[in-house]
Amino acid sequence: MKRITLWSFASVLLIAAGCNEHKANEPKAAAPSKSESEAKTATTTATTFSDFPVPAKPEVTPALVEHGKEVYLKNCSSCHGDKGDGRGICSAFLLPQPRNFTSAQYRLRSTPTGSLPTDDDLFRAVSLGLAGTPMPPWKVMLNDSDRWAAVEYVKTFSPRFAKGETMKRIELGQAPARSEAAIAQGKTLYAKMSCATCHGEKGQGDGPSALTLKDNDGNKIAARDFSKPSGFKAGYATKEIVRGFLTGFNGTPMPSFESSLSKEDAWKLAYYVETLVKTPPATVTRESQNFLHREQLGAPDVKVKLTERAWQFDPNEIHVKKGQIVEVTFEPTDNGLGVGHGFAISSYDESAFMNGAMVGVPKTVKFRADHAGRFIFYCSTQCSTDKLHPLMNGTLIVDDEIKTASR
Ligand code: HEC
Ligand code: HEC
Repeated sequence: MKRITLWSFASVLLIAAGCNEHKANEPKAAAPSKSESEAKTATTTATTFSDFPVPAKPEVTPALVEHGKEVYLKNCSSCHGDKGDGRGICSAFLLPQPRNFTSAQYRLRSTPTGSLPTDDDLFRAVSLGLAGTPMPPWKVMLNDSDRWAAVEYVKTFSPRFAKGETMKRIELGQAPARSEAAIAQGKTLYAKMSCATCHGEKGQGDGPSALTLKDNDGNKIAARDFSKPSGFKAGYATKEIVRGFLTGFNGTPMPSFESSLSKEDAWKLAYYVETLVKTPPATVTRESQNFLHREQLGAPDVKVKLTERAWQFDPNEIHVKKGQIVEVTFEPTDNGLGVGHGFAISSYDESAFMNGAMVGVPKTVKFRADHAGRFIFYCSTQCSTDKLHPLMNGTLIVDDEIKTASR
């Protein structure tokens, strides 16, 4: 019984995984999207939290909420719990922990600190997921009405929503020009506002207070590492960074600076934060761990393009002949739990092993198929706990034939 639940949970995530269809919409902001890796160049950007188009909300009826409950029990409760308390069957495996909806402390909002999110905010968070966390982008699996229904149901876990609190939206103001001077002012503000206490001098999430930070539920929480765009929960875009300082992240130590920063200064500070990113040069493809060995093998006889979709390899069977030089290029369609996916072949793992292939950052490994037989290939990256990706394996079949390929 327990097992079945886990499996159905896995299949949800499996479907959840394939979200990378973001398109450019803001040419100026240097911004890889939430589901792309930091290796994407500054020219791509994506629909982030504040931009995500929200379709008209259906009328809230008992039938809609009832439907929301069905959607929730099927898709959300394995993590968030039947009671919305964040204690679903899979929650023990997850970091950060799934949101406890009963305390209504929402991170991604357009509203001031301490306030509830608007319905649109919730719809957007559910649609896009939270980058760098296990919260999936549900726009991939659930249609608009299912997502609206789920949002309405999630709201029932806290009495605050029914009370009808007034909602104010924080305006982000006009973006000043991104100049050297503006960035320098941002740097001064970074020091003045003590951002480094938590985020560190270089913004790598390692300030003097970093190790002591906890969220309201008492779980340890990391201050964001600004060198890694993939960890920005609302997607990596200047306006999301600005919105984040102004709204704060409810339930976490990340404060709101709405009362202490002018809108213009908030933008300048964001420009400075963006200079702390580390973007690997676009042209370098990361070498696999055994590239020295690879160099000596020469041109491959067989080239295999391997992808991952919904936490399964595609193809899941690779057929070669003994003696052939096999080159496997692997690019997943999601980044697993943020660290990418790997590829290794049992009995061949000394020569065929790679780790951390990401969306947009494929990896290649080359090896000689020098022993015949059937071998399991598997994900060598800890892209989930082993309980959650049991399907991520395939078979390498090496035929023992004398008349091998043309080499
Ligand atoms: C794989 C586990 C998992 C599943 C399944 C899942 N969530 Fe989440 N969800 C999370 C985690 C983890 C967080 C907290 C992320 C964080 O703190 O940054 C979260 C956060 C949220 C938030 C809070 C956003 C915010 O701004 O604070 C909402 C709303 C939410 N989930 C709704 C849903 C709904 C609705 C579903 C089902 C359609 C769902 N989740 C399914 C793991 C999951
Ligand atoms: C008391 C500690 C603390 C201070 C001070 C602080 N932050 Fe944070 N900040 C955090 C934590 C913790 C998070 C992560 C919240 C989460 O993951 O939900 C965070 C998250 C962020 C994010 C991530 C936004 C995203 O979408 O994920 C940005 C940007 C940020 N902080 C900027 C700043 C800047 C700039 C300052 C100074 C003006 C600052 N912070 C001051 C603790 C702090």
